[in-house]
Amino acid sequence: MDKLALHGGPRAIPEPLPGTGGGGAGVSLINEREIEAAASVLRSGKLFRFHPESEVRAFEREAAAWIGTQHALMVNSGTSALICALTGLGIGPGDEVIVPAYTYIATPAAVVAVGAVPVIAEIDDSLGLDPSDVRRKITSYTKAIIPVHMQGVPCRLGAIGEIAAEHGLLVIEDCCQCIGGRYRGQVVGTLGAAGAWSLNYFKIITCGEGGLVFTDDPVVYERACFAADPALPMWMRESIPAEGWLDRPFSAQCYRPSELLGAIARVQLSKLDGILAHTRKLKGTFLAHLDTPMTYDTQAVDDPSGDCGISAAIIVKDGVSPSLFAEALTAEGLPCGTAHNDGFPDRHIYKYWDSILDKRSHHAQAAPWSHPAYSGCVEYARDMCPATLDILGRALRFGLNMRMTPEHAKLMAQAINKVDRALA
Ligand SMILES: Cc1ncc(COP(=O)(O)O)c(C=O)c1O
Repeated sequence: MDKLALHGGPRAIPEPLPGTGGGGAGVSLINEREIEAAASVLRSGKLFRFHPESEVRAFEREAAAWIGTQHALMVNSGTSALICALTGLGIGPGDEVIVPAYTYIATPAAVVAVGAVPVIAEIDDSLGLDPSDVRRKITSYTKAIIPVHMQGVPCRLGAIGEIAAEHGLLVIEDCCQCIGGRYRGQVVGTLGAAGAWSLNYFKIITCGEGGLVFTDDPVVYERACFAADPALPMWMRESIPAEGWLDRPFSAQCYRPSELLGAIARVQLSKLDGILAHTRKLKGTFLAHLDTPMTYDTQAVDDPSGDCGISAAIIVKDGVSPSLFAEALTAEGLPCGTAHNDGFPDRHIYKYWDSILDKRSHHAQAAPWSHPAYSGCVEYARDMCPATLDILGRALRFGLNMRMTPEHAKLMAQAINKVDRALA
């Protein structure tokens, strides 16, 4: 058997793996095209979205066509895209919305922002929502479920969709980390009532900060537009999408993006197919070179063909030390740690969502948990999702990025095989 690097043997990955420098796939591809797109907006002096040759509008049209959805609205972040989706669907005080225990805090924060109560449900070995816990968490106040497709991997949408249909619940897909992922042939975000992308620095495509909310429903779109800009009746006089549109305005926040964001996002969108082709090839190579595991299971993926390929995860089996597995892999040249640990844990775990767990709001009277319209009772505790903490305490995740080649992916798999054999 090969001697582990941890015990003085040769490393499975001799040279450091290429990193991203911090950002996601999109930022590592920024070149003269994005620079020229931004410069040309600056030269034009037209930085505001409401004008006839709007870059933001063009991005919305192009993104809608790429996704295969009727309506898309660009906003200034993924958080605001989620808020606009929830507002668009009429979710507010008195309602509960089920979110996974493993997601960026923006998911429950968006629920709170519209005045609804987030209900935290367990994840399973897909590292996404566990459908059976979703079922357990449904109450008479539940209005919607937000499945989150973490790190490019579509979650168990089929089962979640069935539960939602059974109980008459809305599904809002948080695709912020899964731009371009597919589930059984459809682009994620189009299986539910609305979808949301984030275009921040860490995402598959980026314009620095930005977001997109999309839906097939014209009323949801209209409401999302008002959620993003209360001054629409003023700005849209010349381009009203449908009869009666401006008769139903309401005031909320302002999440309007600038033309600079639209111009950069258009260039990035044109690179999306190339990004996904590369990352999917990396993941395919990685999986193809993994031996049959003895000490771990690979992350469960309902529909591998729709996986964006930007990450891979293994879940170390009970009885094997996850920290030893991580330490051995790191010594082999594949730096990693468990998602949940006592050192520097992944802050996407619900346990670290302090403002949610403490039910803190910007104003005492605005807290959804004590709103007069809400008659339910949701309690949170840091240990309330033991299955999530257990799985994430055994999960090791690996990023796959645009600077890597299939040879790197193969070496990563070989390092895992080596540690697996040694620990079996
Ligand atoms: C799963 C998830 N949801 C929502 C968001 C919010 O996106 P943004 O940071 O653009 O507001 C993010 C961003 O990191 C995310 O990862």
